[in-house]
Amino acid sequence: MSGCAIHPSILSADFARLAQELDRIASADAVHVDVMDNHFVPNLTLGLPVVDAISKATPLPLDIHLMIEDPDRWAPAYADLGVDSVTFHAEAAKAPVRLARELRARGTKSAMALKPATALEPYLDMLPEVDMLLLMTVEPGFGGQPFLDLVIPKIQRARKAIDGSGATIALQVDGGITNETIVRAAAAGADTFVAGSSVYGAADAADAISELRNNAQRKDALE
Ligand code: DX5
Ligand code: ZN
Repeated sequence: MSGCAIHPSILSADFARLAQELDRIASADAVHVDVMDNHFVPNLTLGLPVVDAISKATPLPLDIHLMIEDPDRWAPAYADLGVDSVTFHAEAAKAPVRLARELRARGTKSAMALKPATALEPYLDMLPEVDMLLLMTVEPGFGGQPFLDLVIPKIQRARKAIDGSGATIALQVDGGITNETIVRAAAAGADTFVAGSSVYGAADAADAISELRNNAQRKDALE
């Protein structure tokens, strides 16, 4: 099996040199793109035209993480760009089931994110509607924050629920992923890892990606 996937976040890239920054992560499994609207989170990044440009500048699949209000209105337009997955926040969606179905209908994977303090349990029945569940391991908004260990039990519960559902659902973590924290997140059951500062802050991004992969697989030795 593929085992684990590393999705570097371009939030920590040099936005004035995006094409070269995308080349640095050519060995990654996908590019994680953080869309922030300065309302759902206290930060502003980029929107549809830049995502469109990024999709033309890299052969890698795009994993779009929408940290925006009213994803019911805006998320479908990201799906229409032909990206691999679109992640909306459960806290922001008015009709998450309808939105997840709408994304799939437009040919993209549907994904839902939960902030660290948002409980998983109210969403268990809709797990089969998503292709990926993102459990935030920092409060969304900024790169470079420390990993919140309090999310570990939720990762374990999500892993059990996903395995029990019989559906194919990736379990992604985002925030504070390093060579050290990725071992704990993987042991808890995560299989898809977003890493911003630990990849783009490294002298050699390809080395950083392969080290993260190796450390995610180390959890097998712990079990
Ligand atoms: C934070 C973003 C993350 C961010 C992670 O709100 O969703 O994707 O880029 O950055 P690091 O890996 O530095 O914590
Ligand atoms: Zn993100």
